[in-house]
Amino acid sequence: MSEFATVTEQTPDAVRVLSVQHWTDRLFSFEVERPASFRFRSGEFVMIGLLTDQGKPLLRAYSITSPFWDDVIGFYSIKVADGPLTSRLQHIKKDDFIIMKRKPTGTLVLDALTPASRLFLVSTGTGIAPFASIIRDPETYERFDEIYLLHACRFADELSYGISLVAEAKSDTLIGEQAKAQLTHLPSTTRDVSELTGRPTDLISSGELFDRLNIPAISPSTDRVMICGSLQMNQDMKAICEQAGFIEGANSQPADFVVEKAFVG
Ligand code: A2P
Repeated sequence: MSEFATVTEQTPDAVRVLSVQHWTDRLFSFEVERPASFRFRSGEFVMIGLLTDQGKPLLRAYSITSPFWDDVIGFYSIKVADGPLTSRLQHIKKDDFIIMKRKPTGTLVLDALTPASRLFLVSTGTGIAPFASIIRDPETYERFDEIYLLHACRFADELSYGISLVAEAKSDTLIGEQAKAQLTHLPSTTRDVSELTGRPTDLISSGELFDRLNIPAISPSTDRVMICGSLQMNQDMKAICEQAGFIEGANSQPADFVVEKAFVG
């Protein structure tokens, strides 16, 4: 790693790493200090990264896993052995510095959806990251009566971040009571046998999800959907929504569902 320039406190947009947690050999999460003037909306992403050997920033888009009110900024990442950024980012330690640009943006925000009674958060892999933020925002529980967090991974050990996150949300002093009453976590695996097996798209389009929970199938008259995963999952889930009559929303034009790619690099 010595061929790479090191980010220091003096590097523009540097933030200090506060903690790092490795979940599997492919997944880790970390928290950085929140710059005093940094504001964002729950569900948004920012550009973060390190420096190349020429001292140039090497940045990727990362969803912020913290809710807007938190005093730290969290991220959840895959480790790609030959990924230009994550092959190095996975080695960061407490008190290291990384670059975090101060311009949050994104479509997975509550403001891009019109009012309804149920909110379905549909994710695969690290696509759960923005929903880690959304499920800890009190406004989510004010705007929606019921929140369903779908998270599919290939193997059961990859679900541990989400399981721990939901447990944390349900015991939180600020939103714990609401999360306990209104949030349903639906972790599933696709290549392991577990309590719930299958891709979220299949569980929704087959109706299995609704039968299991004994709730009505999704409909634009009662529900809103946020989608975050691989490009193919996003396309498939978007098609399911559109076929059911949902209209895609945006910050400038709130509607029934929003989509964002889980960024990898
Ligand atoms: P599968 O095992 O059937 O491919 P990955 O690790 O490749 O990013 O995948 C994360 C999860 O996303 C896996 O459970 C995978 O299921 C699932 N997945 C991949 N493509 C799609 C898709 N088009 N629709 C729904 N789920 C998908």
